[in-house]
Amino acid sequence: MKISVTQWEGFRNLKPRRLQWAEGLHLLLGPNGSGKTNILEALHVLTGWGSLKGERTSDLRSWSDPGRGTFLSAGFEGEEALDVRVGIGARIVAKKGGSSIRSSQLRPLVPSLIFLPNDLSLVEGSPATRRRLVDRLCALLFPVYALRLHEYGKALRQRNAALRQGRNLAATARVMAPLAAWVWACRLTATDLLRNGLESAGMLLPRGVTVELKRGSKGLEDLHLDFWESLEACQGQERGMGACPVGPHRDDLLIRYGQKEVARCFSRGYRRRVAIALLISSGWAVERKMRRKPILLLDEVMAELDLEGRERLIEVLLSTGWQVFAATAEACTPEWPGKIWSVEGGRVDAA
Ligand SMILES: Nc1ncnc2c1ncn2[C@@H]1O[C@H](COP(=O)(O)OP(=O)(O)OP(=O)(O)O)[C@@H](O)[C@H]1O
Ligand SMILES: [Mg+2]
Repeated sequence: MKISVTQWEGFRNLKPRRLQWAEGLHLLLGPNGSGKTNILEALHVLTGWGSLKGERTSDLRSWSDPGRGTFLSAGFEGEEALDVRVGIGARIVAKKGGSSIRSSQLRPLVPSLIFLPNDLSLVEGSPATRRRLVDRLCALLFPVYALRLHEYGKALRQRNAALRQGRNLAATARVMAPLAAWVWACRLTATDLLRNGLESAGMLLPRGVTVELKRGSKGLEDLHLDFWESLEACQGQERGMGACPVGPHRDDLLIRYGQKEVARCFSRGYRRRVAIALLISSGWAVERKMRRKPILLLDEVMAELDLEGRERLIEVLLSTGWQVFAATAEACTPEWPGKIWSVEGGRVDAA
């Protein structure tokens, strides 16, 4: 898919504006605080996701004119043509061609993937950060994934409460088991796709970087059996911890180079390349499984890459044929092979 036109009003610091976007690569260039990340966030919201910093919906509305309505709209072209309009009030309400649409339904229609400056923590941060990468990909690939994961989290919280109160645990296990097996099956599929995708983004990395899902369980092949047997095996530990130590909430995505963890053996610049390559692999997975070209939103993606790394990244991005929106505060070297937009005080103009 590609975004052909956008319009925003009352969104963060952005001045009301209607813009037409060509396919290919777009660079948003402007000083700190000018509104580049806010533009990426507007595109993020228009493609069915929420605020980038996990803030309340009301924080998306302009501070300077809180009485004014906040609206975003976009026209998409590509695999199909559609119009999306988003109103931001107490919550985000999206409409497709005039009828309301849920975010979980909108996301797979206009699949977007975002890279943020702190995504280096994908490689060196906690397992939760890596689970988020897999979960976001699964939310695009499997439309009910976010809902089922939410239901699993709810059942897990009930089990942990029952543990603390010394109540019977059997009922929560019966709810958790099928959800856990389903979430694992989705995550395993997504991880296989990511692994294959890494080869297509391989020119950013030395050969031999792989990903593997390490389940929070014994790792038996039968996923239902795995949940039940793992749970039984750690009953004592569970009572001692007062929290369930088995299930998708304990998964991790192992990122290795040969036998070693990438976080331990790669330099900072290369860890960053791995994080970027994983995002591109997610895009590849989306295109392969959903037959739709993803839209990439990249914030400060060139930072810490040497000239060769930047050249390779641009080469990979061009080879995908995807629409890419990249934001940077510094002019890009090598020369950007696409359209450049200047962002200044919330205003966007062709450079
Ligand atoms: N709800 C809001 N209403 C008005 N202004 C806001 C709102 N939320 C954030 N801002 C302001 O928007 C400005 C631009 O933020 P943004 O993060 O997009 O800048 P940027 O161009 O990405 O800068 P940097 O290069 O530092 O990343 C900030 O100065 C911020 O204070
Ligand atoms: Mg920014």
